Amino acid sequence: MKNLSKKATSIQESVIRKMTRIASKYGAINLSQGFPEFETPKEILQRLRDISLSGPHQYSITWGAQKFREALARKQKRFMGLDINPEENIVVTCGGTEAMMAAMMTVCDPGDKVIIFSPFYENYTADTILSGAEPIYVALNPPDFIFNVDKLEEAFKQDPKAIVLCNPANPTGRVFTREELSVIANLAEKYDTYVITDEVYEHIVYEPYKHIYFASLPGMAKRTISTSSLSKTYSITGWRLGYIIGPKEVIDVAKSIHDFLTVGAAAPLQEAAVVGLNFGDQYYKEIQDLYTHKKDIFCDGLDTIGLHYRKPEGAYFIMLDISEFGVTDDKKFSQQLIEKIGVAPVPGSSFFKENINNYIRLHFAKEDETLFEVLNRLEKIRKIKFE
Ligand SMILES: Cc1ncc(COP(=O)(O)O)c(C=O)c1O
Repeated sequence: MKNLSKKATSIQESVIRKMTRIASKYGAINLSQGFPEFETPKEILQRLRDISLSGPHQYSITWGAQKFREALARKQKRFMGLDINPEENIVVTCGGTEAMMAAMMTVCDPGDKVIIFSPFYENYTADTILSGAEPIYVALNPPDFIFNVDKLEEAFKQDPKAIVLCNPANPTGRVFTREELSVIANLAEKYDTYVITDEVYEHIVYEPYKHIYFASLPGMAKRTISTSSLSKTYSITGWRLGYIIGPKEVIDVAKSIHDFLTVGAAAPLQEAAVVGLNFGDQYYKEIQDLYTHKKDIFCDGLDTIGLHYRKPEGAYFIMLDISEFGVTDDKKFSQQLIEKIGVAPVPGSSFFKENINNYIRLHFAKEDETLFEVLNRLEKIRKIKFE
């Protein structure tokens, strides 16, 4: 038989999904795959129940149901402070996952380059490769996960088509400051580069940090392709609803990429999710309070045990520094943590391009009792002999 696609076979299995499988084999608490363990708001579910009888059950407009785009435009205008035309500036996708893939395919030709910060959310490398482009990695240097401006400019000098900006960031928990974003904006302008953002954690930010939408920076709306999703904000990761927001010229192309990739996101789910998009400010405050509460429980517990990590500014991940255990293989450490402690992390090295293996990533989008049980188990961590 002829060889399968080089592009496709160069992509490895998602480490997060692999850890999830191992976690279930050993019955460990799964803190690897980051989905919220909370209930979907009941107003959204009640609407879904009604829609199950009334419809719609056929294709919606391929780039998004009219009502969904109108509600999304209103909501994002409120938070991003930008004029968003539901006809011209939005494509509704199957999750943030498709949004990033479609954005990348909209911008890149084979041979193009894309800047990715490392550590990174693992999809970015796959998306870059699948769109025929080549990643250029720029380090977010531990322990504070800050980029070196000269190194970033060196990457821009290689004439990249785009830079990917995950903010608030998975896995680091960073929320980039206005100064950091301005550095990126100046370089993007100087080297005429698109900025593809991933803002799926836009509403999960901890005081005193504030999320600044890259597209809202002066002059940046024309070169920013914002991707995000409803997965985390409304605890509906299974609904696969995401979107791209951008300038009309970009969105016109993204609409056809999306059409050929998936035709459209599920029509009944778009219709039901409109209820969530119409929620008032109180809902977003409650989400923020909920996650702040989870973060505080988890961080206080880790502090009591004396484990080392950097406090997250946003999103719901912690990069735990495991240097004190003297291990050199974070994958082996993760496997042992599952088997001996009953907690499943993601080995940190899977997020880094550099050879860094003194981190594991844990997520805390879990019920309080689950977090307390995890902390209970982690209390024994120093009694275990890790190989
Ligand atoms: C940074 C980031 N982007 C995108 C996604 C995927 O989002 P969606 O469920 O909308 O495809 C995730 C999911 O964990 C994520 O962490």
